[in-house]
Formats: sequence, C-alpha cells, structure tokens
Amino acid sequence: MSLRDALRIPLREVTDEAVYADRRRLLAALAASPALTLAGCTEAAPPPPPAKTVITPEQAKAGFRTDEELTRYEDVTSYNNFYEFGSGKADPSRARKTLRTSPWHVLVGGECAKPGRLSLDDLLKGIKPEERIYRLRCVEGWSMVIPWLGVPLSSVLKRFEPTSKAKYVAFVSLGDPAQMPGIRVPILDWPYREGLRIDEAMHPLAFLATGLYGKPLPQQNGAPLRLLVPWKYGFKGIKSIVRIEFVEKMPETAWHASQPEEYGFFSNVNPDVDHPRWSQASERRISGTASKLFADRIPTRPFNGYGPQVASLYAGMDLRKWF
Ligand code: MTE
Repeated sequence: MSLRDALRIPLREVTDEAVYADRRRLLAALAASPALTLAGCTEAAPPPPPAKTVITPEQAKAGFRTDEELTRYEDVTSYNNFYEFGSGKADPSRARKTLRTSPWHVLVGGECAKPGRLSLDDLLKGIKPEERIYRLRCVEGWSMVIPWLGVPLSSVLKRFEPTSKAKYVAFVSLGDPAQMPGIRVPILDWPYREGLRIDEAMHPLAFLATGLYGKPLPQQNGAPLRLLVPWKYGFKGIKSIVRIEFVEKMPETAWHASQPEEYGFFSNVNPDVDHPRWSQASERRISGTASKLFADRIPTRPFNGYGPQVASLYAGMDLRKWF
C-alpha cells in the first residue's frame, strides 16, 4: 500500500480497530492504577472493549465530549506547534526524542497554603482519569477534534489550597536547550509561559492531559503533561509543564510578551474579533481523511462552541478590548 493510500484509510478503520481498542485498554488500565498509568505505562491489557464510544447527553451538555468526526491520530501527532522543537508543523514530530519525561516533577507555589515539588505520579495520585473529546482551534485558523486522557485542572489545583490572593494561575514549560533544540532560536522569550484567571482555571472544562487516543502523550503533543482550555485559542494549551504558580496579578504570557497587539491574555476563540493579520471568522477543520491543507472551512463559533458552558465567565466584559 502506498503512503498516499494509507493516508486514505477510512477513519472508522483506523479509530475503531487499532487506536480505539488501545484507548479502551488504557482506560481500563487507568482505572486499576491511575497515577502510574497516566504517567505513561500502557502494559496491562484487559479484555477488548466495546466497539463504539457512547456519548451521554450529560457529557455533550457539559461540553466534555462531542461526536464530531475525530482528527486522525497521525494528523494530531504530525501537524504540531511546539516551537521548542522547531517552527515548522512537521518539525516537532520529526525531532529526535530528546525530551526526558520520566522522572518528571512539577513545582507548584505562590499564593497557596500547600506549595510543593511533586512527581507527576504524586501530582495526579487519587484523581480519577477521564477521557475528553475536545475541539482544538489554533489561532492560525485550523482546528482538530481530539480524544484526550487526563484530569480536570481544578482537581490538581485544589490540592495546593490556593488562598484568596490567588487571582490568576501561571504555567511554565520546560526550557532546557539540551532537551529542546528549538530553544536555541530566540523566536520567543523562553521558557514558554501561559496563564489563566483563577475562575477559568477552576472551570470543569479546563483540563490537564497526559494522553491522547488512549496512548501516553507523544513528545510533540506536550509530554508528559499539557494544558487544554478548549474555548481558547490553542496557544493557551501550554505543553510539557514544569511549574504552576498562583499569583495575584495577571501573569505575562509568551505570545503576549512577543506580540502584545496580536495575542491578548484571554484569547477566547472569537469569530468577531479578527487577528490583526487575518480573519478569525472560519477555520480549516482537519478531520477524517480530508487533506490537511485543503480541508473544508467551517464557520468558527464563539468560544469555540463552548459558549453555553463558559460565556458567563465573561459577562459584562468587552471582548474586543480583552481579546
Ligand atoms: N506549548 C509550548 N510549550 N510551546 C509551543 O510552541 N504551541 C501552542 C500550544 N502549546 C506551544 C505550546 C500552540 S500555538 C498550539 S496551536 C498548540 O500547543 C498545539 O498543540 P498540538 O501540537 O498538540 O496540536
């Protein structure tokens, strides 16, 4: 079979038979040993799963899952933005696997009663892993639908007991040039930084992912721990997180520091507020077997379609000013 043909395998074959079975196996393994498996162990292989994902009305209403056509695993893992491994879309997946994801520690501090430096296992210990199927809308105008594994961000943050002074949460990626060759290029002021307002961080949709398609996160997707805020542009989804800090003032973020007039702190998906250099009214949906570059354009929805769940967070705010 030529590569061209392989790329045209119908979605259901790839998803249901190969990846999907793996995913179910991993979910079952997760139930047995959550923290351990989330950190990357896929050894245990319980009996094969039922063939189809069932999305309950509650999950759909909460925005936790969608039945929109998934983006293929090979596209999710080969068309990436992870500038620490190069600025081309294929650079992160082609980069040598130099990131040491185990052991991995996250330093959590600032305005909280119980700061600490925790191993990934300890950070996630006792928190029930979940699968979320989220839309990811990149500020560049493309989007994907991805089944992630992970835990609600709020469950992790709460264990550090943020104080009343914790108005924002700041996140920092690893910034080691020995493991991340792209850091030698001064595209951004490394390490990559992001932030959320505390109510955004505590929202049930804000998620920390450790896997996708039932497999541990690949290096290019932000192993071993990355943020997902599905109603915001994809660049808020900071990868390979090593530090989380509760802060009183709005933290500086990597893209805002680099081009403040183009990338605001909130960065909620908004078809009515264009990027200074291009329209945000529509997006190229990379899903199924459609070609990545010529995928159909679909209208972009306010808050990436999560308005019913999150619009109230911004009641009374001028979203043109707070873009
Ligand atoms: N996190 C870090 N540390 N470095 C990056 O370059 N790129 C962001 C975000 N997180 C980025 C990052 C951007 S622009 C997007 S669109 C998403 O990651 C892409 O995630 P994906 O490659 O898993 O699709």
